[in-house]
Amino acid sequence: MDKTEETIDLTRKSRPETQQDPLPLRLLLPSAAARHNQLAGTMVINGYYQAHLYCLAFPYEVPIGWLQRLFRWSGPCWHSLHLVPLDRLTTMKKLARQQVNAGSTLENARRKNYLLDPEEAVVFQDAEELRHSLVRGEQKMYQLSWYVAVQGETEEEVKSSLRDVEAELGSAGIISRRAIWQAPEAWLSVLPLGLDLLQYQHTFTSEALAAINPLHVPVGTGYTGVVLGIEAKTGKLVAIDTFALTNANITIMAMSGAGKTYLTKTLITREHFWYGNDLIVIDPEDEYGTLISELGGELVRLDLQQGAGINPLELWGDSEGNGLAEKIEWLLGLFSLMLGELGPVQRGLLEQALIRAYQARSTMPLNRGAAIGQEEIVIVGKKRRQPLLTDVYQQLAEMEDPEARILCQGLYRWVYGAVNLFNCHTDLNLKNPLVCFVLKGLDQEEVKAVAAYVIAGYCWGKMKRQRDQRKIRLVLDEAHLLLKYRDTASIMARFARQCRKYNAGLLTISQNVDEFLLSEEGRAVALNSAVQILLRQHEAALDQVSQQFCLTDFEREFIQQAGRGEALVRVAMTDGMQKYGINVVASEYEHEIYCSR
Ligand SMILES: Nc1ncnc2c1ncn2[C@@H]1O[C@H](COP(=O)(O)OP(=O)(O)OP(=O)(O)O)[C@@H](O)[C@H]1O
Ligand SMILES: [Mg+2]
Repeated sequence: MDKTEETIDLTRKSRPETQQDPLPLRLLLPSAAARHNQLAGTMVINGYYQAHLYCLAFPYEVPIGWLQRLFRWSGPCWHSLHLVPLDRLTTMKKLARQQVNAGSTLENARRKNYLLDPEEAVVFQDAEELRHSLVRGEQKMYQLSWYVAVQGETEEEVKSSLRDVEAELGSAGIISRRAIWQAPEAWLSVLPLGLDLLQYQHTFTSEALAAINPLHVPVGTGYTGVVLGIEAKTGKLVAIDTFALTNANITIMAMSGAGKTYLTKTLITREHFWYGNDLIVIDPEDEYGTLISELGGELVRLDLQQGAGINPLELWGDSEGNGLAEKIEWLLGLFSLMLGELGPVQRGLLEQALIRAYQARSTMPLNRGAAIGQEEIVIVGKKRRQPLLTDVYQQLAEMEDPEARILCQGLYRWVYGAVNLFNCHTDLNLKNPLVCFVLKGLDQEEVKAVAAYVIAGYCWGKMKRQRDQRKIRLVLDEAHLLLKYRDTASIMARFARQCRKYNAGLLTISQNVDEFLLSEEGRAVALNSAVQILLRQHEAALDQVSQQFCLTDFEREFIQQAGRGEALVRVAMTDGMQKYGINVVASEYEHEIYCSR
């Protein structure tokens, strides 16, 4: 063995007598498992190199969570903080002595007309304030010793990691030193044994200590927001303030049964209580009904027997944008869901039919760029009603073009046939701020897709008209249904982009990740979401998800092996992406409601 190396006998008495002998160590580890290279200050523990730092001095003032990024450092690194509460009377005496010393120095300087030492003035003032808060019981005093262990496979790796950690500590205003000659003591002080063999202690107030290690991880910009779960790495609560981010959109993607709905319910419930926001849920599988009822919301169940109560042709009535053109784009999306992907001729014919249908109801000549909502072009009025799907059908039927006849045939079932629930005037009058549209009664997937699209359009119009400061969360489950066609996908992408303008946040959920990410517009929806949440993914979708979201190997593995409720949360910030691996947790009461249908 190298002369500079020694085998550590864990039972030797090299520590202060006041400390207890770490007897259990003899049982836990063989003594030869640890070797100490005295020159390099490294230990070799079970084949891994380890080095230690102790913190020597701390900054004067710190913001909340100032050491957050140190704890989240991605390399193998352990922090050990030893806290010993100080007796109040002893502390008071010490502070009084400190204050008297500083006070007499200042008084002396004043008498002799010397320049006052600002440092002494600060010490005097701090001691005064601290004594007061100790007397009032607002604060307590602690002795803190802080040790850091860094591990690596080679000595070089450890040294390089040490430099990184030192730099991180330095940038946080902490002066640290390497425990070279006391490596075994440092190692034992880092182990969770409650032993502080180095005794590099510093006095801290409880306020300063709380600032080091807050109970939750701030996601995004600040410490506000709703708790989403517990971070797997640090065991801390992860709270997210979606409406404070660049946009309030959220995309959730995972395979079936991974916990998407559970996560969404957790988030929207807590958001509702936190922001008092409006909540609209488009629910194809009747998964949210119980929750919304429990929250005092309104359920709108759509089925094939009754009309949906929403006229898709009703104008949004906003005073901005190029009104009719936007509405027609949206309607072309609707027709592509009803009839399948539209060719240029079909789009042209439908557009013509739509303009004519609106024209027939309008008191004024209309053109495509008309700004709907301006007084002079109000079609609705009290006298004239909005056109219906029947009107579009009639306009198509009157055209000579054979393509128009094909379109008529396709539209028939939506206008007069079995699924004519959208051929009606709007009579929905939603007063409740919480609404859940349940589409389960519509059976077929394509009808659900049309319904979801019509409801999304209805909500969009409402948002545009409303334009107050009330926040709105719009939840769209099975969102991939709406991204099948280029027309609908581009509308959804536009909604996602513009939501922020109306103080709204779109939450899209999809289990069909391939389909969602396949189109450019689908990707736009996902990438226009400041929060992207990935739960366990299907093997077949892993590659695409990893590629689209530029996941690291570790993140890929995380979503490949994630258990129920485990999620990778990615938050887009102006200075890059913040990422958290979390466990979604709910209280017993919440769990009961979230799991009942
Ligand atoms: N974080 C969690 N904690 C406890 N249980 C959970 C959690 N997430 C999911 N579960 C359980 O797993 C079940 C399925 O979850 P959920 O309905 O959210 O899956 P999903 O991804 O929405 O599935 P689908 O795609 O079929 O709709 C829930 O009913 C619940 O019992
Ligand atoms: Mg679900």
